[in-house]
Amino acid sequence: MQTLDAIGRQRVVRAFTSEPLPDDALSTILHAGRRAGSSKNLQRWAFVTVTDRETLRRLSEVGPWCGHIAGATVAIALVTPDPRADGSPLSIMWDLGRAAQNITLAAWDLGIGSCPGTVYEQALCRSILGYPEDHHCEYILSLGYPVDPTDLTRPLQPGGRHDLASMLHEERW
Ligand SMILES: Cc1cc2nc3c(=O)[nH]c(=O)nc-3n(C[C@H](O)[C@H](O)[C@H](O)COP(=O)(O)O)c2cc1C
Repeated sequence: MQTLDAIGRQRVVRAFTSEPLPDDALSTILHAGRRAGSSKNLQRWAFVTVTDRETLRRLSEVGPWCGHIAGATVAIALVTPDPRADGSPLSIMWDLGRAAQNITLAAWDLGIGSCPGTVYEQALCRSILGYPEDHHCEYILSLGYPVDPTDLTRPLQPGGRHDLASMLHEERW
């Protein structure tokens, strides 16, 4: 029931207070990411945590919709082997999505909001975070306590999700 509650009510949060996250909360959140299942159990992900305010501000410039990172309490950069390298399987990003979902659901369970930021400026992101050339960061998660705690569960706007009927095909497309 709790899992269904989280799936049914979780919203992204983009405005955070300055209250620090307890160390055990961040640890719980990171372990939730680590716990995700992955194709062939390869676990092709690494997490870079950032709390330094100036680094968070610089990270907020890696994409046009990454402004929320500047105000995050912690950012978790999700780093994988380069998914665009020759022969790279799509499962790298499937697996990363599972880890990211675990992270955001664990955070939500602890009353901590989160939001992804999509990285467009790859060279800038690499220069800030320093991961190796054969690795890649497509997404960074902002985390923090929400300025407005009701943000965690604010109702979807009308039409905020497509109707199931519009995407469901039974037996055959
Ligand atoms: C792959 C992915 C990338 C996203 N990138 C961004 C982003 O760059 N900036 C941002 O503010 N939100 C980003 N989001 C959050 C979406 O905008 C958000 O999930 C969507 O609007 C639905 O919001 P809700 O879950 O609160 O209903 C991203 C979400 C996903 C799944």
